[in-house]
Amino acid sequence: MSNVALDPSVDRVVLIGFMGAGKTTVGRLLADRLGWTFLDTDALVEERLNLPVDVVFAQHGEGVFRQVEQAVVAEALTETETVVSTGGGWPEPVGTIESLPPTALSVWLQAPLEQLLERARAQTNSRPLLDAEDLVGGARSLLERRAPRYARAKMHLKTDGKDPATVADAIARRIRDQAPSERLKIT
Ligand code: S3P
Repeated sequence: MSNVALDPSVDRVVLIGFMGAGKTTVGRLLADRLGWTFLDTDALVEERLNLPVDVVFAQHGEGVFRQVEQAVVAEALTETETVVSTGGGWPEPVGTIESLPPTALSVWLQAPLEQLLERARAQTNSRPLLDAEDLVGGARSLLERRAPRYARAKMHLKTDGKDPATVADAIARRIRDQAPSERLKIT
């Protein structure tokens, strides 16, 4: 975990990290614990375009996916008491994390590459970037390129060896410790 001081009034959480980091599973559990709304940005993109992620990449290209992704995250973040799980590439443009609302807690879910890939492989249809000949080499260079962007998150959390519930509890505790208790319904 990083030691960055948090804004005392966290009212939104943005989960970031590489494919397979567990953002969606942890996000759902965290929202449940907080009594907040859960939004998954890949699902929002799919809903917006009425197409699965891999088809968006194949038919419209990554650029269109990224534009819609930025738009749906920006919209999702207009709501307070929301947990947003973002796609692994969302924080790549410089300044993306820095422009989050000050009351948003950004959390980088970290894990070793082998574990990320093991988990991510289970659902490759929403992850066309993993559909490469040199899967491990490609994923490694993508992670290396993105790591400095992910590192801009206020909280860094190592997830290896932890189940999603434990990870969600750690984030909920961090928020509860920082925020006035009446604003949260942590169960
Ligand atoms: C992507 C990650 C995916 C999805 C798309 C692109 C990426 O989401 O947005 O396949 O660029 O890392 P997850 O991180 O939820 O797998």
